[in-house]
Amino acid sequence: MEILSTRNLKVSLDNREVLRGVNFSIREGEKVFITGPNGAGKTTFLETLMGFVEIEEGVVFYRGKELKKEKDFKILRGKVGYVFQNPDDQLFAPTVEEELAFAPLIKGLKRERVKEIVERTLKLFSIENLRDKPTYKLSGGEKRIVSVACVLTMEPELILLDEPTAGLDSERWKLLKKFFESTEVSLLVVTHDRELLDSLNWPVFKMENGALSQVR
Ligand SMILES: Nc1ncnc2c1ncn2[C@@H]1O[C@H](COP(=O)(O)OP(=O)(O)OP(=O)(O)O)[C@@H](O)[C@H]1O
Ligand SMILES: [Mg+2]
Repeated sequence: MEILSTRNLKVSLDNREVLRGVNFSIREGEKVFITGPNGAGKTTFLETLMGFVEIEEGVVFYRGKELKKEKDFKILRGKVGYVFQNPDDQLFAPTVEEELAFAPLIKGLKRERVKEIVERTLKLFSIENLRDKPTYKLSGGEKRIVSVACVLTMEPELILLDEPTAGLDSERWKLLKKFFESTEVSLLVVTHDRELLDSLNWPVFKMENGALSQVR
């Protein structure tokens, strides 16, 4: 079953065409990379999938349903996680633990269940020591891994990740790669990380000047 797809997606920013007719689809359990040069439109593409950017032409489908208005994207945002390229755009809670608890609490899960999810996620990325830290006091790499972790706690069916390995040390890098390999969640990973691209045998798409094509 297809989760998310686009047909002939066109987006302009400041009267410049940034996405020039993108066709893409990702199914349940599928994991893919998008790579491509700076300014090619990768982040804009992810933002458009989340409904943060106005669509000029073309369509985004979520499970076969066409999403048109801003409010149509609300269903998708409860099911599709988004890890921002800049963690400062994403993190907002006073502490790491509260950041991780936010999504499951909003879902209405019981305190005990929320606690379980938070503990499991802290352990998964070996960040138990960061539990009580204010998010604004984290280092760059710590922010990065916390921003991945807090999207996981919403238990999404698909996660869009924008440069998730940027700034990670080798221990965290390995934990993240292990998660990528073992999870059943669908993943769309935007990355420049050559080692990551080479070490996971996933399809690779290249965004170039606003056009997307499969290169592996
Ligand atoms: N808010 C905005 N207003 C106007 N132009 C923008 C805006 N955001 C991005 N752009 C432009 O859109 C183009 C694509 O930017 P985008 O951030 O999608 O690239 P990217 O592929 O993610 O690059 P990088 O690898 O550097 O993250 C760039 O030319 C950029 O200058
Ligand atoms: Mg980008």
